[in-house]
Amino acid sequence: MTRPNTARVTDKVAAPKAPADRLRLYKLPADQVLRTLPARSISLIITDPPYASVNRSGGTGHLKRWFSGSMEWPQIASTLALGRARLRADGLALVMTNSAGLDGALAAMRTAGFSDVRPMVWDRRYPGLGSGLRHQVEYILVGRLPGSRTMSGTDLVSVGAVGPGTANRWPTQKPDGLGRVLARMAGIGRDDLVVDPFCGSGALLVGAAERGAIVIGSDISAKAIALASKRLAAAAGKSAPKAVAPARKAAKPSLEGRRTAGPAAYRNSARGSEPKSRRARR
Ligand SMILES: C[S@@+](CC[C@H](N)C(=O)[O-])C[C@H]1O[C@@H](n2cnc3c(N)ncnc32)[C@H](O)[C@@H]1O
Repeated sequence: MTRPNTARVTDKVAAPKAPADRLRLYKLPADQVLRTLPARSISLIITDPPYASVNRSGGTGHLKRWFSGSMEWPQIASTLALGRARLRADGLALVMTNSAGLDGALAAMRTAGFSDVRPMVWDRRYPGLGSGLRHQVEYILVGRLPGSRTMSGTDLVSVGAVGPGTANRWPTQKPDGLGRVLARMAGIGRDDLVVDPFCGSGALLVGAAERGAIVIGSDISAKAIALASKRLAAAAGKSAPKAVAPARKAAKPSLEGRRTAGPAAYRNSARGSEPKSRRARR
């Protein structure tokens, strides 16, 4: 039987012109992957960048060294600009930051070319570690262009953070449920291409994968890509079209047919119009 949702992990970039599989993970720097994607192909950039924060843990800044690839916000702005240049007409970006990074992140989004940037609040449901004013909320900056789709819901999302005792927890791993809520609010479906250029464990892509979107993640860490591969293959498996047992001798399962149709982003990447299926979902 065809298995369309096994993660494809690679360190070689090939632009997914007519993707046979809907999940692609690259152990490569974000910029390198984004540059290969066609203009007007991305519906949603959803990411928690490896921003260097001086105040993530009571001022010790230990997360500055947690990732070998920590970046300053002006550098992240360049990466976001690559993604913004590849957004579909109705595309948008969701970029996470904590309170210490809020100023830098807002500036980075504007530098990257988003015309409207608004913060949403993520209530983590319990406070982070450290002393003093411990943060229970983080921010999701919504970066919009004039034609960006409208998100549904409110600007406060409440999803329990991943606890410290969680097995195989990736540093700063976000809860799968947060990716689910955000994908629903952005109306993500099978016609969409969703990209997390700094995907870590892949948690923010779970919602998109479960909704059958084409999903692309990149990370410079082999361990992160291994975690993302496992998580997202399982998530994509949930959305796989089920082969219905034929009543009579009949056609093969419709998996191939669905894939050949391909996502709108690749069928006509210059148009970027909103597919009917999304209008219906709202
Ligand atoms: C804040 S973490 C992402 C966590 C992720 N959202 C999760 O839930 O697991 C940032 C990630 O960016 C990765 N990273 C750092 N520099 C990178 C680069 N230049 N390109 C791609 N990934 C990079 C790090 O390895 C780390 O996994």
